[in-house]
Amino acid sequence: MAGIEFHLDDAEATESLGRRLAACQQPGLVMFLHGDLGAGKTTLVRGYLRGLGHQGPVKSPTYALIEPYETGQGNLYHLDLYRLADPEELEWIGLRDLFDGESVCLIEWPQRGEGMLPEPDMNIYLSVEGQGRRLLLEALSPRGEQVAHCL
Ligand SMILES: Nc1ncnc2c1ncn2[C@@H]1O[C@H](COP(=O)(O)OP(=O)(O)OP(=O)(O)O)[C@@H](O)[C@H]1O
Ligand SMILES: [Mg+2]
Repeated sequence: MAGIEFHLDDAEATESLGRRLAACQQPGLVMFLHGDLGAGKTTLVRGYLRGLGHQGPVKSPTYALIEPYETGQGNLYHLDLYRLADPEELEWIGLRDLFDGESVCLIEWPQRGEGMLPEPDMNIYLSVEGQGRRLLLEALSPRGEQVAHCL
């Protein structure tokens, strides 16, 4: 699939796309968020969680690696694997419970967990473009394509 491209002028636009993605959520969705430090990955997740009605803070779980949320539409896990030294460390956080086909997983720095993570339903690539960001969305499974079509 070629992918869908967006230009996001400011952080508000990133959050707003996160909200739109949440409105299209499918159970068990696994989304990889790619992009350099500061590309806007956590901002997208914040919008996503706001879209699901979460009102509290959304911070990247850089040290804890994982932050669980209970939403009106089931469990959501936000992972940030930036600090992961070795993918094997993921044994300790009980990954099998996360990828249960129902819970939604949004994963920053997924390449750090290579070999331990399932294939994603969707890849999102964020990069700096002018004052804003470019976002490329790529669906990789029927579940991912349903989300992409819904957008
Ligand atoms: N579309 C945008 N245009 C301009 N600035 C943006 C945009 N989206 C997000 N930002 C800003 O970029 C900064 C970094 O965002 P964020 O923390 O979401 O990045 P990140 O990709 O999660 O970084 P890290 O890899 O360090 O976790 C924030 O100040 C945020 O407000
Ligand atoms: Mg982040």
